[in-house]
Amino acid sequence: MLMLRAPLQPLEITDEIRARFETLDEGDAVKSPEKITAVATKGDIGLSSELMASLPSLRMVAVYGVGVDRIDLDQARVRGISVTTTPGVLTDAVAEHAVALMLSVARRIVEGDAHVRSAAWAKSKLGLGFSLRGRTVGILGYGRIGRRIGELARGIGMSVLYTNLAPVAGEEATFRETPTALARDADILIVAAAGGPETRGLVNADVLRALGTSGLFVNVARGSIVNEEELIDALRTGVIGGAALDVYENEPTPRVDFSKLSNTVLTPHLSSATTDARIAMGRLVIDNLAAFFENRPLLTPLEV
Ligand code: 8YV
Repeated sequence: MLMLRAPLQPLEITDEIRARFETLDEGDAVKSPEKITAVATKGDIGLSSELMASLPSLRMVAVYGVGVDRIDLDQARVRGISVTTTPGVLTDAVAEHAVALMLSVARRIVEGDAHVRSAAWAKSKLGLGFSLRGRTVGILGYGRIGRRIGELARGIGMSVLYTNLAPVAGEEATFRETPTALARDADILIVAAAGGPETRGLVNADVLRALGTSGLFVNVARGSIVNEEELIDALRTGVIGGAALDVYENEPTPRVDFSKLSNTVLTPHLSSATTDARIAMGRLVIDNLAAFFENRPLLTPLEV
């Protein structure tokens, strides 16, 4: 039996899951945990160690997304629980959102919108933004999404640098060993790395200082990757020029300090929220669940 932790968008995906598999919502599933052999969850909510441990018959977790930082992979490994994700199908959506955020903060789109709506335009001119052509974007995390961000950035005339667990073959010259070295050589720093203990707090006050007073920070990965207190302080004191964020340590109630800062663009974890991406993600969740329940090989299992 399947535990569905939350509805998956669009609605037809959730409808198909309920029609094809014996499904319980979480509230009902926890009343008969022994019946649950599979869980469908979302990357941003995962499956806690406690909830996973409370399901003695669990054999498979299907993640709608690619982030697994909220899944107890150690427990999955020890118990032989398979974990599937939805790689590839959300790459373009997330990369496009990262570039949209970069453009929005560089060209002061959100401030401009407010300037018109508030009728302030009649009284004053908005300050200047800056062009991206000829500037350098530093990408922290150079997997599928990071590399796609690089392609899009090159398309508007930017240079691309990156840091990663290791250099990518053929792109050794633009690899930087550390986030600080990357920030020092970049005008805009975009985070596209996986969340989890290894990257927690990776972007800190030192990295932000290296980015510089006209530098811009963009995060479409996980809020945990940046020290939010130090980011807020850097934005408030002008250590960096601005930020555009799609992810936060506390979702869906981020630190209220972010809302008080004018040099920020804030979106609510939207990066993969396009119809195309979400249908493709939902299809992969369904196909993995069908393979599990029909004892066929899973389509996109993680090597846990
Ligand atoms: C998901 C994400 O789409 O991929 C992930 O892990 O965080 C998002 O792209 C989101 O979690 C779905 O609600």
